[in-house]
Amino acid sequence: MNPTGNHAAPRLALVTGGIGGLGTEICRQLAAAGRLVVAADLPAKPERLAAFRAATAEFGATIVYRELDVSDHAACAAAMATLEGEHGSVDILVNAAGITRDASLRKMTAAQWHELMRVNLDGVFNTCHAAIDGMTTRGFGRIVNISSVNGQTGQFGQTNYSAAKAAVHGFTMALAREGARKNVTVNTVSPGYCDTPMVAAVPAEIRAQILAGIPVGRLGQPADIARAVAFLTADDAGYLTGVNLPVNGGYFMSF
Ligand code: CAA
Repeated sequence: MNPTGNHAAPRLALVTGGIGGLGTEICRQLAAAGRLVVAADLPAKPERLAAFRAATAEFGATIVYRELDVSDHAACAAAMATLEGEHGSVDILVNAAGITRDASLRKMTAAQWHELMRVNLDGVFNTCHAAIDGMTTRGFGRIVNISSVNGQTGQFGQTNYSAAKAAVHGFTMALAREGARKNVTVNTVSPGYCDTPMVAAVPAEIRAQILAGIPVGRLGQPADIARAVAFLTADDAGYLTGVNLPVNGGYFMSF
């Protein structure tokens, strides 16, 4: 064990949505915790990739980018097989890939529903489906699925997103039971409104109302979310499973 409570030999972490608003910081904190990190994301524009490389430069080759579309089941299986072949194992999986297709239900198209489900819910199935066999066989795994406060409360204009994010935690709890005897933990982190491009796209007036309702008085920072992910993926976090960890500045409190 090193001071972060993690195994001395680097474990491999796959972070989907890895170059995104939350994903980049999750990659950074996992690398800081001694992990080798693969940031998997859709093919990105050169500027976006350059920004990611600049944000992670201090970690050198400890963080690498690979193209992956999480909505593609076969591609997820192939990516997992490739990584397991190269490194021997994928030990940590963080599902941070997510999109919004906001519209009130009366205006929502079937395409907006299905596109969102394919990424936010099927994506979690696809990557976990590819990872679970290796993790249980090896007797170690840490899976974190990123949900949302809006899966817990529902949000106007987000029947698709709220449904998918609520479903993610149902999936987490079921898979947590399946992995429990094999030291494979499965947990959910539910961010509130964070300082990311996704939230920046919310109309300013609505964003101001939301901000006024956050007891801590600010949007979450990606580092606030990444901290929770690093905590749940530590080697010595084996007794934490099936948990939903809200990180929302007090925006929604429950027990
Ligand atoms: N609550 C109640 N009523 C509302 C409402 C709300 N929050 N928002 C709009 N309405 C009302 C309007 O006042 C209007 O009423 P009238 O018909 O009486 O005038 C009516 O609903 C408008 O309905 P529309 O179907 O025409 O809605 P719209 O097209 O104007 O806007 C929307 C819908 C695009 C979804 C817009 O409300 C919106 O962008 N909302 C923000 C959604 C949001 O918070 N998304 C979060 C994205 S970030 C994220 O998801 C990250 C995370 O995990 C936290």
